[in-house]
Amino acid sequence: MLWPLTTQRTAAGALAIGGVELAALAREYGTPLYIYDEATLRDRCRRYRAAFAAAYPATTVVYAAKAYLSPALLAVLRDEDLWLDVVSGGELALALRYGFPAARITFHGNNKSPDELRLAVTHDIGRIVVDNLLELERLGALGAALGRRVPILLRLNPGVEAHTHEYRQTGVIDSKFGLPTLDDQAERAVAQALATPTLDLRGYHAHVGSQIFELAPYRETIAALYRFAAQMRDRYGFVPTELSPGGGLAIPYTEAEEAEEAALDDLARTIADAVRQETAAHALPAPHLTVEPGRSIVGPAGVALYTVGAVKDIPGVRRYVSVDGGMADNIRPALYGAAYTAALVNRDARGEPLARVTIAGKYCESGDVLIRDIALPPLAPGDLLAVPAAGAYCLAMASNYNLALRPAVVFVRGGHARLTRRRETLDDLLCTEVMEGIED
Ligand code: LLP
Repeated sequence: MLWPLTTQRTAAGALAIGGVELAALAREYGTPLYIYDEATLRDRCRRYRAAFAAAYPATTVVYAAKAYLSPALLAVLRDEDLWLDVVSGGELALALRYGFPAARITFHGNNKSPDELRLAVTHDIGRIVVDNLLELERLGALGAALGRRVPILLRLNPGVEAHTHEYRQTGVIDSKFGLPTLDDQAERAVAQALATPTLDLRGYHAHVGSQIFELAPYRETIAALYRFAAQMRDRYGFVPTELSPGGGLAIPYTEAEEAEEAALDDLARTIADAVRQETAAHALPAPHLTVEPGRSIVGPAGVALYTVGAVKDIPGVRRYVSVDGGMADNIRPALYGAAYTAALVNRDARGEPLARVTIAGKYCESGDVLIRDIALPPLAPGDLLAVPAAGAYCLAMASNYNLALRPAVVFVRGGHARLTRRRETLDDLLCTEVMEGIED
């Protein structure tokens, strides 16, 4: 799915989402604006849960907050009975402050600080996914100091290559994530966890990458987890009751990618079949599964809205159409060469000739190009462009580069929009600056 479920062209040819015309949203809230369709968000949560309920009922769907997190989204996730995976004290604090049940939170990260671990243990969060031996030691000590038995999973590096951008591969041998299974680090972690009375080892986790279209890496990951689990059973008598092959399912960003999208039912069936096969092959009991989608929950629900400004022709070379956002709100094209598409939303341009243009951002960087070579109707200053599949890893990775103000966010549903994050102001930007020791 490229555009949110409720996307429609009105009779006059304008684009609407959630029953609200995007041009009206631009007038009311300004641009750049990020719009989330609540129907799509809930639909993605429900489809995930239903797909796994059918394929492997003992599955928990854990939403990966790093893709996007806000109080309004948390309320939806809570409603839809998902768990939450956080990767920082910040994400954890936000979730706790807005009442997300601590018991349904999982904490990831390859270098969690002592303060972050303390926050997690103090609030008795659901699981801590331990990445390395230092963390294991710290957690054991924290459990003792705080009088807790901490439920943990060990994150393993299974040595699986997912076919995605190098920056998004997390399960190859040369990765900063997880306990290597190449030498004895992962085994030492098992022995140490079992020998620490304040740690409650439940099982194993792996996440091999993100924006993965093919399902084979999930099978390989599960096989690798089981090879390790069987060895540990043989050596230490430890039998995992929980297992996670992570998240990472790809979404389409362009029309061309729509055909490649894997159905959630296929993902669930692939994972369930692999778990059943491996369980039988290694004579281990069937585990409780967790899956950790981020992008494939929020990505398709979000659309970015920009206003066209300067249009510059370089004769015989290229036409640059600059918009009022860019790499400060969406760094993905600059960072990964990510492809996006866009549509003109404020008027009916059917029948107008298409021309090849490049949509540039407004930031002071030649690489700040949102879309290279896209065929669009003639664009003039003031036109509105909507970019679909903008719900994941855009706002979450947004910055104040060039002292940009980060955009406002609205949730739309049933013909209404509600502001869920106001646009930043100059005061927001400047309120952290101090002039210590400087006379005025
Ligand atoms: N679980 C773990 C342990 C992860 O590290 C990640 C993502 C996820 C789950 C969720 O993966 P997803 O379902 O969203 O693919 N900034 C990059 C993506 C980085 C993903 C990092 N880890 C991008 O914009 O493509």
